[in-house]
Amino acid sequence: MEQSLKNLEQEGLKAIHGCTSIETLREVELEYFGRKDGKLTNIMKGLKDLSNEEKPKIGQLSNAVKGVLEKALAAKLQAFENEKLQKELSSDFFDTTIPGKARTVGHIHPIAQVQEEVERIFSQMGFAVMDGPEIESEYYNFEGLNIPADHPARDMQDTFFVAGKNDEKYGRMVLRTHTSPVQVRTMEKYGAPLRVIVPGRVFRYEATDASHDSTFNQVEGLLIDKDISLSHLKGVMAEFLTRLFGKPVKVRFRPGYFPFVEPGVELDFSCLLCAGKGCRVCKHSGWVEFMGAGMVHENVLKAGGIDSKKYQGWAFGFGLTRLVMMRYGIDDIRLLTSGELRFLRQF
Ligand code: PHE
Repeated sequence: MEQSLKNLEQEGLKAIHGCTSIETLREVELEYFGRKDGKLTNIMKGLKDLSNEEKPKIGQLSNAVKGVLEKALAAKLQAFENEKLQKELSSDFFDTTIPGKARTVGHIHPIAQVQEEVERIFSQMGFAVMDGPEIESEYYNFEGLNIPADHPARDMQDTFFVAGKNDEKYGRMVLRTHTSPVQVRTMEKYGAPLRVIVPGRVFRYEATDASHDSTFNQVEGLLIDKDISLSHLKGVMAEFLTRLFGKPVKVRFRPGYFPFVEPGVELDFSCLLCAGKGCRVCKHSGWVEFMGAGMVHENVLKAGGIDSKKYQGWAFGFGLTRLVMMRYGIDDIRLLTSGELRFLRQF
């Protein structure tokens, strides 16, 4: 018994050292240590049948043989792995003359670029930047803005209605047709005094062409305080446009109509291209139509929970998309939402 164990040890060591690959090493491991029919395993299993005298001696010896073989297996495995690593390292030639792989980096969309500038300038003038939902209730989009259900002004804006609930107070849900609903939301939330702008996407159910798209961006403005008049609006807008364009800009009012303001105005600015002399861009008038505005209607202040005896203010809304088109000389609005990279990469 003792002798056969010693022979097994010699035989095992020889087999291990003779291995030429990890695979053959695994086979040898199985041959000796395999759970079912391993040579050493079988001896260990047979220990229990030995006499009490032999048991401790043979037990100790077989443990020793097991240890020796295990150690030899581990050492051989390590040797194979080192060899493999060595091979990989020496073949890993790095050619420093190959040109680098450039990563494609995205950039900010032209509308977002101009929006950031608008936000920066109004922030400098003490306006906060507000947000509102794009899916809006009829109440905030129309009723709260003094546009009742049967008012002809509703025809001015063709609306996308969203299927679903029809609330008694808030009505149906729509894709907001302008950023003005955030006027009432802001008044409800913060009360007076107030100074905010609201940039955001708006939606109209319209046929699209070079100057109309179903989705575009507006910027709403709202200022509520004591003793506010339209002259404050004129000053703020002249300053805003002058900072935006980096040269002196003049503004003028014309009468305009929106149900949520009284009086209502349209604001034009002096054409930058011809300095007011008249050109194709300003249709030879020297002025460019820019936005609707006016003193916030009493009913709108009421909807926002503001005491119109104490406070008044103005609101405006301009097309951010149109401003971007003017700024970069883009003649088709649809390009801005097309996702066309050949177009977008120019900005
Ligand atoms: N909401 C109006 C529009 O979309 C613009 C506007 C805003 C007019 C605020 C007056 C006051 O045309």
